[in-house]
This record gives sequence, structure tokens and C-alpha cells, in this order.
Amino acid sequence: MYRPVIFIQFLRYNFKGLSLSSILATIFFLSFISLSNGQTLDDVKTSKKVTKDFMDKRFGMFIHFGPVTLRGTEIGWSRNKEVSAEDYDILYKEFNPVLFNAETWVKTAKDAGMKYLTITAKHHDGFCLWPTRYSTYNVMYSPFKRDIVGELAAACKKYSIAFCIYFSILDWHDPDYPVHNPYDSTQNVSGNMKRFVSTMKNELREIITRYDPYMLWFDGNWEKPWTEQMAVDMYLYLKSFKKDIIINNRLGKEMAGLENKQIDVSKMIGDYDTPEQTIGRLNMDIPWESCITICNQWAWKPNDRMKTLKECVQTLVKTAGGNGNLLLNVGPMMDGRIEKRQIERLKAIGTWLSRYGNTIYGTKGGPYLSTDEYASTRKGARIFIHVFEKKSATLELSALPGVKIQKAYFINGNPVKFNQQPDQRIIIDLPETLPDKISSVIVLELDKNAEQIPVEENSK
Ligand code: GLC
Repeated sequence: MYRPVIFIQFLRYNFKGLSLSSILATIFFLSFISLSNGQTLDDVKTSKKVTKDFMDKRFGMFIHFGPVTLRGTEIGWSRNKEVSAEDYDILYKEFNPVLFNAETWVKTAKDAGMKYLTITAKHHDGFCLWPTRYSTYNVMYSPFKRDIVGELAAACKKYSIAFCIYFSILDWHDPDYPVHNPYDSTQNVSGNMKRFVSTMKNELREIITRYDPYMLWFDGNWEKPWTEQMAVDMYLYLKSFKKDIIINNRLGKEMAGLENKQIDVSKMIGDYDTPEQTIGRLNMDIPWESCITICNQWAWKPNDRMKTLKECVQTLVKTAGGNGNLLLNVGPMMDGRIEKRQIERLKAIGTWLSRYGNTIYGTKGGPYLSTDEYASTRKGARIFIHVFEKKSATLELSALPGVKIQKAYFINGNPVKFNQQPDQRIIIDLPETLPDKISSVIVLELDKNAEQIPVEENSK
């Protein structure tokens, strides 16, 4: 019998739930993952060791910056909306963030306890924050005339912060890209994707060879002109310059995104998933990073509502509790400074982390699912229960079959009374007031390795 037919029958026999169409779709997908030069994504995939190193970092700074800060509206998205394209596209002629200081930004990230930094080198508006040879729509043609990406790369190196670059696949400004206005399809008439992809490759090669980024953060994958075949080809291309560069999954189309969708990992192109403005689901298998703004807008907006310290810390804790990273976004102002109130907020997060960092960095999420009351992380033989608020005199946790809690105490040393009966819910007595208003950490010392405990199926 013809071999593909045998394969289909094999799949149907072994995976009876699968429809013929989903089997055919999978075969189609797998077949284009293999390129003509014979290399496949699996051949060049970023090693587990490198992605583990990335996930151990847990906390990074996202920075959305560019000429749009002169208007205070959203980067990329306000072009053809709040700001006319004509106006938007000449903003760079006045872009002069004279108070930009790469070391100050990087030190702000460092003081917040962040371990990596991701800058929007090129957002959907197409403006490049580095002096690229492949487009004149770049910072050297603004009055500022300084390589923002290069200065940040150097500062990150100096302060041991992993340097990462955001790069938009779509570019509403470049005439070669077939979509010029996402709000008016009549304007999206021409383009030349072949030439566009070739420019993109040149710019990315320049970025990798010049700035040696730790990670590339793609975005804009949803638009039609960009195909999965292009994504696979690009992944292989980038890996040819730096074998272990980490690449997010927005090169391909399969991602959690704003909907926090449960993804099909066999369709993912890239090394980790990217839920947006929401805390990702607990997942012990697929690395993930939630990108969330400290205010509401990605780029700077005057008087934007800023998240409280409690919201920021609990977001980080719940992210770690789900086994993911948090990329917290700041949008510096048009003069190049990060707002003072944001610097203070970030510093306060750093102060919290200087006490509790060992319950966040290098930990695994779970075994409990996060609730409004608590989240858990674990390392070695210890589970860390982060208690956000006291809802009643005791805290009840699901049973841990076959595991014995030997000791329980708050991280400040105060002992905690608990009751653990075989296969019964664990009851922890909470004190009159919790020791930390933001998040109090109870350590459960076990007789076994906590990292091997299966995760809780349902929270309650
Ligand atoms: C979205 C937006 C973009 C933003 C990104 C960060 O994809 O299009 O403006 O940079 O999210 O996650």
C-alpha cells in the first residue's frame, strides 16, 4: 500500500479521536517544516539548557519606545487612527530624546530585580531605533542621531542583563509590505513580500551580528502576507547566525496571545509561548512568558493608570506560580526618561524581590494552581506558598499523596501550624495578620523532591 495511506491508517488506529482532516492538516504542516536544504526546525531548535536558563530568569523589562512618544498615543496602532499617517510618519524629524541614558534604563531594570530587557528596535510603524543600512527610516535621520539599540546592548552587557530585541514582522510604513493601513483595506493594494522579506533578513542579520541579542521577540505574525512557511524559513535563517538565540513563538501563528488560548505545541514555531496582557496558564512543558504593561498603554501615555505595587508583585508571583516568565512593560517619555513614579514602582518590586527572590528565580511553578488567595512555586524539597490575603483563619490546600510535610514556616522564620492527614486536604493556620501586606511566603519542607509532584488538576 502507498506509504502515506498506511501512515494515515496508523494515526487513525492509534488516535481514534482524530478526524481525517486534522490528520491531513498535520501531515501538511509537518511536510513544510522540512525545507529543501533538508534542515528541519528540530535540527536547529534552541537547546533545553538555554531555554531553561531563560525561564530561570523569570522577570524581564519590556520597553516600547519611538517617535510616537511625541504624541503620547499607542505605538504603531495610533497611526491612521488618533494620528494621521502623514503626521505620524514625520514625527521622527522631531524625535530627540536628549535625556535618554541607556545605563539609567538598564539600572532601573536591574534594581527592579529584572534579569533581561527587550527593546522595540522596530515596531509596526517601521521606525528603526538603530542605524540600519537597509532603511533610511531610522534614528540616524532624526535629530537624535544616536544608536539607541547599540547603547542599550552595551549597558546590558555592563550590568549583566540579557539583551533582547523586539522586531515587528509587519511594517505598515514600508511600501513593500502589502498592508499599509490595518483600518482601511482599500489602501492595502500593493507590495512586494519577496523584497520585504529580504530587507527583513538583512536587518535581522545586522541586528544579530552587531548586537548579539540573547533573544528575539517577534510580533505582527497575524497578518495575511506573512505565512508559516516564511516563519520556518526565517527561524532556520536566524539560527544560522547564532545557534542558541532564543526566539519567541510569534514568528509563527500558533500562540496564546490576548485570548490566552491553549496552544497546540506541534504547530508552534519558536521556543516559547507568549500570552499577552494576561497571566499564562500553568504549563510544566512549554516555556512561556506573559507580556503585561505597568500602565495600560505600551508606549508612554500621560497620566496613564499605573498598576499598584500589589498588582505588580502578585502578577509576577502568579506568573512564576504558573511556571512562566513576566515581561513587564514600561514606555519611556519623549525626552528619553522613564517616569519617576514608574521608576519608584519598579524599585519597590526590586525591594520585595530582594527578600523573596529565592522563591521566584530558578523555581518551578505549581504544584497548586494560583487563586486570588495564593500561588505556589517550588524548588528542591520545598514548596513556597505565597499568601496574598487572609480569607479565613485557615488556608486549605489539596492533599499531596505520598508526600509528608516535615516543617512549615513563614520565610521570616515564624513557625506555622498545619494539619496533614494521609490523603486529606492540608490545613494551615494563618496568624492574626499576615507578615507581608503584598505577599507572605510560607515554606513547606517536604520529605521528597517537590519538583516531581504532579500539578493540581483543579483549583478547588
Ligand atoms: C501586540 C501589539 C503590539 C505590542 C505587543 C506586545 O501584539 O500589536 O503593539 O507591542 O502586543 O505584546
